Amino acid sequence: MEHINNYINENKDRFINELIDLLKIPSISADPAYSEDVLNCAGAVAKAMESAGADNIEICKTAGYPIVYGEKIIDASLPTVLVYGHYDVQPADPLELWTSGPFEPVVKKTEIHPEGAIFARGACDDKGQFYMHVKAFELMMKTDTLPCNVKFMIEGEEEVGSENLGVFVKANKKRLKCDAILISDTGIIANDTPSITTGLKGLSYVELEVTGPNRDLHSGLYGGAVANPINILCEMIAKMKDENNHIAIPKFYDNVVELSAEERADIARAPFSLDKYKAALDLSDVHGEEGYTTMERTGIRPTLDVNGIWGGYTGEGAKTVIASKAYAKISMRLVPNQSDEEITTLFSDYFKSIAPKSVSVKVSPHHGGEPYVSPTDIPAYVAASKAMETTYGKKPVPVKSGGSIPIVALFEAELGVKSILLGFGLDSDAIHSPNEHYGIFNYLKGIETIPHFFANYAKAH
Ligand code: BES
Ligand code: MN
Ligand code: MN
Repeated sequence: MEHINNYINENKDRFINELIDLLKIPSISADPAYSEDVLNCAGAVAKAMESAGADNIEICKTAGYPIVYGEKIIDASLPTVLVYGHYDVQPADPLELWTSGPFEPVVKKTEIHPEGAIFARGACDDKGQFYMHVKAFELMMKTDTLPCNVKFMIEGEEEVGSENLGVFVKANKKRLKCDAILISDTGIIANDTPSITTGLKGLSYVELEVTGPNRDLHSGLYGGAVANPINILCEMIAKMKDENNHIAIPKFYDNVVELSAEERADIARAPFSLDKYKAALDLSDVHGEEGYTTMERTGIRPTLDVNGIWGGYTGEGAKTVIASKAYAKISMRLVPNQSDEEITTLFSDYFKSIAPKSVSVKVSPHHGGEPYVSPTDIPAYVAASKAMETTYGKKPVPVKSGGSIPIVALFEAELGVKSILLGFGLDSDAIHSPNEHYGIFNYLKGIETIPHFFANYAKAH
């Protein structure tokens, strides 16, 4: 397999420059102001697939942003790997916290990335990661080593819920027929500790509106005599958890499976330093559900968090006012057997039940998704594990993530195929945050590991 490292060494500068060009396109799916950029980005992805050697490339229209499809079918009797990724990115705000422009990619050295990392929105999530697959495919094509069929499906709406991709998958089951799904949109523990994600959380996301008086009021003339919706919303949010940080919504845990002692021991075996975790976040202590470790809290326990809360006067100086309305956005991360729809209903019923008569409340659900678990004994997982063992010199650790990629559960439901979450990012790469970056080491390691996956998988199948 010497050809892999040779090809990467000869082409790595170009690989990096091509990714930098892709990162210059502000493909923010959440903000309509960028719609032209998102469409341009789809075009750039299609071109990249074409020059890497894919056939039947199509920019598939949807009710939202397009899905870029491409394939290389070398022999119908060989297995087919479907590669999924997303070319859309999160909004870049708050802009003032970036040390360089979010869409002006630059390579900078950091303590964790002594070989340099590319700083830009989408560098790790997910442009840098899906592009590894395009380059690994190019490598296999140019070195005549592609061992099986490949289908690419790169979408533009992951960061806004993948609703149109769900429609596309249901309508294109034949076209998407495959034996394994390979996704690089997650992370590893550290650059000297490879891991493979074996679990993703589901998501229920709601927006809350609490209304008090029919207009904003003088906080002296009316204060203490009418409900202040901001105060009430805070009190209601406080009732979401008990003193042990256990979620207080009735029936919330009904379907949650308690892990066996053995499974918990497995989780505890994954390398993790609580001191380093706290230090990286400048925290003197962590916080979470009583009776569970940090890795359990993020990996296997459902959680509830306020993502945003607003209302009243937040400008310069002091304005004495009781707002008419208060708002919050809440996410609940779900674990196996909890369904998004069910949990959204339980939340909504509870929220309404604890609302005092002095206000009216509204709960609006946003997009959500179901949790996902990947077994470690299927051929595709074993192929991925062996590939990482070859390129890192260490067997990867299976890890359950607190993140969500809702389409993965839908792939399983609609296509009947499991996904392998072979990600290469680091938690410190600041995805969704200012100064997102992706290590050059990680990028090239991904390009190196993917062809090994293909070789192992084709052989095992
Ligand atoms: N790639 C992330 C999810 C992720 C990151 C999973 C790291 C595991 C490790 C994905 O782009 C994402 O941000 N998902 C959203 C959900 C989506 C519905 C907006 C999330 O997890 O918040
Ligand atoms: Mn992603
Ligand atoms: Mn994301």
